[in-house]
Formats: sequence, C-alpha cells, structure tokens
Amino acid sequence: MTGMAAPANLHAPLELPCGVVLPNRVAKAAMSEQLADRQGRPLPALVALYQRWAASGAGLLITGNVAVQPSQLVEPYNVVVTADDDPTWLAEWVDAAKCHGARLFMQLNHPGRQALRAVTGRSLAPSAVSPRQRLLRWALARPIEMTVADIGRIVEAFAASAAVAERAGFDGVEGHAAHGYLLSQFLSPLTNHRRDGWGGSIERRSRILMEVVRAIRGRVGRRFAVAVKLNASDFEDGGFSVDDAVHVATGLQAEGIDLLEVSGGSGSFWLHLLGAATPTAGYFTTSVEHIRHAVDVPVMLTGGLRDGTVVRELVARGVVDVIGLARPFAVDPNAARRLLAGGTLDDLPTPRRSAVRAVGAALSSPWHQQQLRRLGRGLDPEPSRGRARTAARLVEMQLRWRTGRNPAL
Ligand SMILES: Cc1cc2nc3c(=O)[nH]c(=O)nc-3n(C[C@H](O)[C@H](O)[C@H](O)COP(=O)(O)O)c2cc1C
Repeated sequence: MTGMAAPANLHAPLELPCGVVLPNRVAKAAMSEQLADRQGRPLPALVALYQRWAASGAGLLITGNVAVQPSQLVEPYNVVVTADDDPTWLAEWVDAAKCHGARLFMQLNHPGRQALRAVTGRSLAPSAVSPRQRLLRWALARPIEMTVADIGRIVEAFAASAAVAERAGFDGVEGHAAHGYLLSQFLSPLTNHRRDGWGGSIERRSRILMEVVRAIRGRVGRRFAVAVKLNASDFEDGGFSVDDAVHVATGLQAEGIDLLEVSGGSGSFWLHLLGAATPTAGYFTTSVEHIRHAVDVPVMLTGGLRDGTVVRELVARGVVDVIGLARPFAVDPNAARRLLAGGTLDDLPTPRRSAVRAVGAALSSPWHQQQLRRLGRGLDPEPSRGRARTAARLVEMQLRWRTGRNPAL
C-alpha cells in the first residue's frame, strides 16, 4: 500500500516493520541535551530529564544526537558512544526513559563540517566547503575533505555505536541524515563536490547513508529498529531537493528501515527560521506528502507542529504515522499528554524575539537547551529567561569545555 499510512488516531499503537511497537503516535524528537561529562558519559541530570519525559505520555523518545566519534561532537557535552564502550554505563539512562512504556531510540550523528570550533579543531566533511554565512564560518571548525578510508571508518563507527545501543537496551537507533550534518552534507550537491564514487549523482551522494544503514542492520538483531532522519529538502537553491528526498526514501525502504523521520533544512536554514515565529501547522507538512506517496515505511514528521487539530488530522488522514515534537518538550515536559488529551500546543512559551533576527536565532537553541538543563535538575522551565542570561550561560559552558571541566549544573 505504497503512498498512504493506515488512517489512525494519536492513541493507536504502531507496529514497526521490525516488530517494535510504539504505544502511541507522539514522539519526542531529538534535542541535543549537552548533559554528559567531559568523556561523553550521561550525567545524573540526563537520567532525571528522561525520567520526566518518560512520564510525558510520549510513545517514542529519541535521544539528542550521540557522537559516534569522540573527536567529532556537534556541541560540548554530547554523549559519545563508540565500539569500546561498556553498555552498562548507559543502563540508568535506558531504565529512566523506558520506565513508563515509551520506546527509546538513540540518535547517532557525525557533524561533518557543522562541528563547533570550540569543540573540534578540525572537522571532516565530504568536501572542503565552508558555510557561506559569516556567523557560521566564525563558529564552525574549518572542514577538510575526507579520504575514502575516513568514510569507511565513519560507516563502521555508526554500526559499532548501534551495536552498543542495542546491548544497552535501546529499542532502536536513528541515523541523523538531516539538518546539514555529515550524512546530509553528502546528500547535498552544495556541500558534496566529490568526483569519486561518493559524489555526483544522487545514487553516489546517498551511498554513505545506504552503507551506514546496511552496516547497522548487519550488526543488530532483527527486532531492533533502524530509523533515519532525512530532510524533505535543504530549501536552498541547488541543494538537496524533494525529488532527491523521494529517491533516497525509496532506497532506504529497500534497505529495510523501520521509521523515516522527515525534517528539512541545514544550519543556515534553521538560523533563518529560528529568528521568526513558528507556523503552527508545521514547516514541512506539504513536502512530506511527496515522500509519503512514494514509500510505505512508517513516516514521522517533525518541525513546527503545534496546532492540535492539524496534528490529529495528519494522522487521521494517513499522511504521517508519528508526530515528532522537539521544542514543546523543553517548555512543557507533558506536551505529549496535552496532545493526546485533545489539546493543542500553540500557546507554549518561546524565547523573546530580538530586533536583530540573527541574534534571536543564535540564542534560540541555547535557550531551549538551558530549559532541558533545568528539567534535569528537577526545576520547572523558565519561560522568562532573557537573552543576556542565555548568552552568558552559553559562553560559560564553552569556557568550561575548553578548560576540560564538566558542565556546571
Ligand atoms: C535545543 C535543540 C537541540 C536540538 N538537537 C537536535 C539533535 O540533536 N538532533 C536532531 O535531529 N535535531 C535536533 N534538534 C531539532 C529538532 O529535533 C527538531 O527537528 C526541530 O526543533 C523542529 O521541531 P520542533 O518545531 O518540534 O521543535 C534540536 C532542536 C533544539 C531546539
């Protein structure tokens, strides 16, 4: 039945192709928590945060991005999971997240050229192409073109991290191939200028993603879920298009993925969006339909979904199977319960906008991340947190990282 999901309501369980059953259709999408220690191991605040989200009513919790290589973090204090890791140090995190019946996926990521300069001196990317925006060029490490051996090591790193996640008790992993990180850089002609077997046509640009999925599938059990987060489009001229996304989604279905999370945009696109008000009917609601019509893998949609009526209708019409929410969970840890009870999320607090749009945009993610830290400390969110406080906290965290210390909680 390619082209449509079975019409359902938000309360209906969903069985993924691997047999994992999501108890309902509301998922917490990935948010980089920055609550690990300097070695990338979960701190008690991360466990406490997931304890709160476990009780939120969400059927699926996807972790913030976990680094598959210790030197390649997106942000300071991300969790790192590599082949050498003992899964027992993830046990408390897993137990906390799953204690009310939610399923738990670990999101695996490699930043490629979107690694902060404060974290990584040298970033690996498909091609040595720096972002065009001055702010991003200043904040990010200078990219170096990867060798074929580097590519092989990264494919292996994704598979090794997935195997550790499975042994630790996660129900699945999600490969992050959206938002301009490494796998998404390979997909986009704007960031992948390679002339070897890993660049050029969409088959070649998507080869690393297919190999990552295949390598993970080869390393985990049949009942372990493999998901991918994919851009519906980069929304940039000459970038990864909706047609490319349809092609890749079809390939991922052939590789046997269990869930396709649809998002969109790269770092610069998000900088543009985050300075503006969120359209409550979602950013990618139109684009997702093209992908939905092409595949019959379960589809999750994330990005600006706040209007309860729109959300319920998307699932009822079979356009998407799972509703993904990120920022709502930072300001209301019970966001899922509100939606499931028939409510709406368009009244949730957001950071104060700035007259200088770029400033508001740059502080939006830190503002939300700082709410996560409060939740992890057992406090309520602080919607009134201002720009100066947010910026000061951001700088403090980066200084602590640079001086080799754990985050102050
Ligand atoms: C603080 C913060 C951290 C984020 N970290 C991640 C991440 O680690 N991985 C990811 O795929 N997306 C990440 N996102 C993006 C969200 O998953 C989501 O795609 C985006 O916020 C749009 O959904 P929303 O409108 O429901 O927030 C992050 C967003 C925020 C606000």
